[in-house]
Amino acid sequence: MSIGSISYTLNNGLTIPKIGLGIYKTPPNVAAGIVYSALVTGYRHVDSAEYYENEEDACEGISKWIALDPANNKREDIFYTTKVWDDYHGYEATKKAIEGSLKKAEKIGYIDLILLHSPSSDYEKRHGSWMAFQEFVASGKVKSIGVSNYGIKHLEELLAYPDLKIPPAINQIEVHPWLMRSELCAYCKSKGIMVEAYSPLAKARKFGDPALVALAEKHGKGQGQILIAWSLAKGYIVLPKTVTESRLLPNLDVFEIKLTEEDLALLEKPNEYFTTGWDPTTYPLDSEK
Ligand SMILES: NC(=O)c1ccc[n+]([C@@H]2O[C@H](COP(=O)([O-])OP(=O)(O)OC[C@H]3O[C@@H](n4cnc5c(N)ncnc54)[C@H](OP(=O)(O)O)[C@@H]3O)[C@@H](O)[C@H]2O)c1
Repeated sequence: MSIGSISYTLNNGLTIPKIGLGIYKTPPNVAAGIVYSALVTGYRHVDSAEYYENEEDACEGISKWIALDPANNKREDIFYTTKVWDDYHGYEATKKAIEGSLKKAEKIGYIDLILLHSPSSDYEKRHGSWMAFQEFVASGKVKSIGVSNYGIKHLEELLAYPDLKIPPAINQIEVHPWLMRSELCAYCKSKGIMVEAYSPLAKARKFGDPALVALAEKHGKGQGQILIAWSLAKGYIVLPKTVTESRLLPNLDVFEIKLTEEDLALLEKPNEYFTTGWDPTTYPLDSEK
């Protein structure tokens, strides 16, 4: 068994590898190659999005890996995620967007997880998108559904839909020691929604932080490895991105790092609000506009 297949179980009973390769800002001509190399290295989980413009290339990398050794490299051992972008909120637009993502995933047959990339629209559109998501699960073409960048208020809204059949399995949000989101993560946990940590390396912008450097020295590991181990210690799925082949293995080889309570306390900055990109978790509900 590859270390990349070490998994959590979602609220629908399906499993998800704890570490996934993020491929945001991974150009199409690079994505197929780095996804293939990641799978050869042992990764079993890839995080793409319609917005990243590399879905087809990610699936190309996956299908190339399966073709390498079809007797042992199985589609069902891979977890492939993509996301529906903000322009396609609403029932009809989301259906079309998912069809488009499925077409780009033709070589691998189905999508393991679809996320609504952010809550940035309105009640009617978010609701319509969720109804479309549920239909694709029923069709079997999408295995699990979830959201991204949802705050507590957006999750409360979703969980209160009168026609909710499938609650989200995942909320993918930016989380790291300088953006703890303790309340949101605790809320997700209380509702059985798994947190996926995006930008788990804080886009490498906090490398050199004295506590991080000290922990890297203490454990004899790299700073990136300590941050990935932090996400795992919190019970999150973690999505480090790299286009650098030599970083693939270190970013996966983290399961033996055991951070102590003291280590966590040293590293965590619960009062810092360090976002490295956008933050739609604060997007207003209709009643707040
Ligand atoms: N849902 C959303 O709204 C959302 C938003 C952002 C990200 N995401 C997902 O989360 C994934 C990860 O987030 P991210 O791409 O923003 O940033 P990240 O994973 O926090 O950081 C990536 C940066 O760290 C560098 N890096 C990777 N491993 C390293 C190592 N071992 N040592 C030193 N530097 C290292 C990478 O450089 P190289 O690539 O040059 O090696 C890259 O510059 C994305 O790719 C995407 O799948 C989702």
